[in-house]
Amino acid sequence: MAKKKSAKVWAARFAKATDPQAEAFTASIDVDRRLARYDIAGSIAHARMLAKQGIIPQEDGEAIVRGLEEIGEEIEAGRFEFSRELEDIHMNIEARLRQKIGPAADRLHTARSRNDQVATDLRLYLKDAITGVVASLRRLQGALLDLSEANRWVIMPGYTHLQRAQPLLFAHHLLAYFEMFDRDVGRFQDCLRRVDVLPLGAGALAGVSYRIDRRFVARELGFGRVSDNSLDAVSDRDCVVEFQAAAALTMMHVSRLAEELVLWSTAEFGFIQIDEAFVGGSSIMPQKRNPDVAELARAKTGRVYGNLMSILTVLKGLPLAYCLDLQEDKAGLFDSADTLLVTLAVVAAMLPGIRVDAERSQAAASESYTLATDVADYLVRQGLPFREAHGVVGQLVRYADERGKGLSELSVEEYRRFSPLFDEGVLKLDVRSVIEARDVPGGTSPRRVAAALKRARRRLESAGL
Ligand code: ARG
Repeated sequence: MAKKKSAKVWAARFAKATDPQAEAFTASIDVDRRLARYDIAGSIAHARMLAKQGIIPQEDGEAIVRGLEEIGEEIEAGRFEFSRELEDIHMNIEARLRQKIGPAADRLHTARSRNDQVATDLRLYLKDAITGVVASLRRLQGALLDLSEANRWVIMPGYTHLQRAQPLLFAHHLLAYFEMFDRDVGRFQDCLRRVDVLPLGAGALAGVSYRIDRRFVARELGFGRVSDNSLDAVSDRDCVVEFQAAAALTMMHVSRLAEELVLWSTAEFGFIQIDEAFVGGSSIMPQKRNPDVAELARAKTGRVYGNLMSILTVLKGLPLAYCLDLQEDKAGLFDSADTLLVTLAVVAAMLPGIRVDAERSQAAASESYTLATDVADYLVRQGLPFREAHGVVGQLVRYADERGKGLSELSVEEYRRFSPLFDEGVLKLDVRSVIEARDVPGGTSPRRVAAALKRARRRLESAGL
C-alpha cells in the first residue's frame, strides 16, 4: 500500500508515515520560527557562496536569493503559513522556496546540513540579542545615574545584616548598582566574542566535500571568524549557556535592586515612594499601594535561573556531535532574553518617578548608633588601639541604650566616664561629618561620590548614551 505523500524531505527512506504524536512532539516550528530572519540571511549568504564557487548554477543562485528575500517579506508581513509537518523553520522556508521557484530550490541545501544551519541561525540571533541587552542595560544605568544625581546629597543609613550600620549617601548606594550593571555589560560583550564564530561549513558533523568559501559566508553574515572544528561547531552551545549565565547574573542584580525598592517603599522604611503608574492596588484593601513592578522584577529572576539550569542539564553528558536534544536550547534562551529585556526596560522606566524622602532617610541614618564606628575612630586618633577603642565604645553604646539615649545626647562628662581620651570634639560627630570623613577611593564622601557620578556619566557617554 502506497503511503500518503509526505511533505518531509527525508520521507523517501521510510515505509511508514510519522506517528502524529511523534510529529507533534518533535516539531520545533512553534519555537524556532523566531529564527526565520536569521535562517533566511544564512541561506542567502550560503546560496551566494555556492553560486560564486560554481557549485550551483549562477541562475539558480539568483533565483534562490530572490525567492528567499520574498519569503522574508511574507514572514515579516505575517503572510507565511507555518506547518508542523515540516518540523522546523529550516524545512518550512525550504518548502516555500520550492513552491515559489521550483526545482532550483533543491540546490540550496548543497554542502550544508541543518546542524550547521541551526547553529548559525542561533549565533546570528544571539548577536542581536546581546546588542539589545547591552543597550537596555545602558538605559537602566542611565536611569540609575539620573536618580543618583537628582538626589546626590541625600543621606541614608547603610546596612549590614539589614541592621543600620553607617551613614551613606543615597547616590553612593545607587551607584553600587551602576557597577553591577557595568560588569553585566562586560559579561555580555565577552560572550559576544565567542558568539562571533561562523559554524556554517561544518556540514552535518565532518565538514563538506565541496570547495566552499567559508570566509566569504562569514563576511556576508558579519562573523569575525569561522569555526575550527566541524564537530565542535555543530554541537557547541557554550554561548547559549554563557548568555543564560550572564542573564541570570543580571537578573540577580535586578532582583536585589527591586528588593531594596520594595523595602524602602514600606511604611517601616519610608525612604522612597514609587510612582503611582508603577504600583498596584488591592481588590479588598482600598488603601494599598503595592510595589507590583518591583516584586515581579524580583520574581522573574527565578525563571531565568531555571532556563540556565535547563540548558546546562540538556548539555550534560551529551555525546558529539549533533543530537536532537540540542533543539531544546531555544525555548529557554528566548524566554530568558525576553524576560531580561522586558524587566530591564520596565525597571528603567520606573526609576525616574521615584521620590526620595530625604528627611526621613537622613533621620534614620542618625539613629541606632550609626556613628559608633566613628566614635571609636575618634579614640584611635587620640592614640588608643582600635580593638580597645571598639571595646570602650561598646560599653558606651550599652550605657546609652539602657537609658534610651542616642550618642549625641550624652554629655562629654558621660563620655569621659568610659575614657579620659574623650573631649569636646566628639560632640561634633554627626552623619554629615562621618560621611565626609570617608574620603578614600570608592568611599561615600561627597567629593568621592561627585567624582564617581562624573565617571559614571562619562562611561555612559562613551557607550553612546
Ligand atoms: N530543529 C532542529 C534544532 O532546532 C534543527 C536541526 C535538526 N537536525 C537534525 N538532524 N534533525 O536543532
